[in-house]
Amino acid sequence: MRRVFGKIQLAAPAGVSWLSPRGSGIGMRAARIHGYGGPEVLRIEQVPIPAPGPGQVRVRLTASGVNPLDWKVREGALRDIAPLPLPFTLGRDLCGVVDSSGPGTSRFRCGETVMGLTDWRSGGAFAEYAIVAESDLSAKPRGISHIEAAALPLAGLTAHATLTSQHAVRAGERVLVLGGAGGVGHLAVQLAKLRGAWVAATTSRHHLEFVRSLGADLVIERHRSDLAALLAPVDRVIDTVGPTALAPIWNILKPGARIRSTVAAPAAPGADVGTYDTALVSISADSMLLAELAQLLADGQLRVEVQRVLSLSQTGDALALSQAGRVRGKIVLSIGQF
Ligand SMILES: NC(=O)c1ccc[n+]([C@@H]2O[C@H](COP(=O)([O-])OP(=O)(O)OC[C@H]3O[C@@H](n4cnc5c(N)ncnc54)[C@H](OP(=O)(O)O)[C@@H]3O)[C@@H](O)[C@H]2O)c1
Repeated sequence: MRRVFGKIQLAAPAGVSWLSPRGSGIGMRAARIHGYGGPEVLRIEQVPIPAPGPGQVRVRLTASGVNPLDWKVREGALRDIAPLPLPFTLGRDLCGVVDSSGPGTSRFRCGETVMGLTDWRSGGAFAEYAIVAESDLSAKPRGISHIEAAALPLAGLTAHATLTSQHAVRAGERVLVLGGAGGVGHLAVQLAKLRGAWVAATTSRHHLEFVRSLGADLVIERHRSDLAALLAPVDRVIDTVGPTALAPIWNILKPGARIRSTVAAPAAPGADVGTYDTALVSISADSMLLAELAQLLADGQLRVEVQRVLSLSQTGDALALSQAGRVRGKIVLSIGQF
């Protein structure tokens, strides 16, 4: 089957009709995997436009934020926790326009611009349309761009959780952020400063100036060996990197120090972890909190750095950049017209 767009004729891929099976309209593009693996398993495909179920809305996406989770899902990192339905459309962070509402929804009208996070078991944000539980969406405030709105949800909610899980950071606490230039780290630095903490952060030499510009009191090149002299004592560590970055800092922690990791349950080789308050942070969608974080962006109290904006057809490049681990802030896919 062929469709004509202006003077350009496009052929549907083998086995794909431009009409969805329900005949509800032309299909959409989506970045999908049919099995777990490396970059080669990702395909940009023409698929039917999904329909919202009870409590759900369909969002026509304008932008989607990229997270390390997306290439980890592609590689099968979650397969032991919960096998995902294959083929699976990657992506969780989104901004877009509500385009259709399922039964029992009332919060958003068609045409409203929203931002949010899809459920990790359903993904679906690297596509032209996504289905999202209405309760997981927030209205995009005026004053932030679609790109910024798509960059914020997962990293913002996670950064907030590292500072509040079980015991919230208090003014005057000495906080160390490992990986202060990354998606979670650069927001954690700023949110900790907003709470009145003294904030130090580690990063590579490429991002020292960037992390200083976020308001960190001390920015440390991550390979320095004199961390104790520079930092001790530390009340709370936000680890966004993992055990290798955490290993050198155990001996500069105060007894009872809180360690919150987004990567792995904190474990001290040869030390008694019981001396510390440790936790692996995990988050789920929280539309009220996301609205508060988005308002901080709109008010200019928080900034989300977007290093690169790529297109949906460049999803593979975006995942490769994320996987290379040198991201300054966020990578975002620009998907549809604002
Ligand atoms: N548990 C959850 O719910 C949850 C939620 C979000 C993210 N995460 C996980 O948290 C991690 C961070 O996520 P993200 O979105 O912030 O990733 P990201 O944007 O890729 O940031 C990673 C940052 O770490 C820095 N880095 C790499 N190696 C380092 C080292 N040895 N020491 C210090 N910094 C180092 C890099 O900057 P430099 O090169 O400048 O150092 C990079 O900017 C990922 O593993 C992600 O999957 C978990």
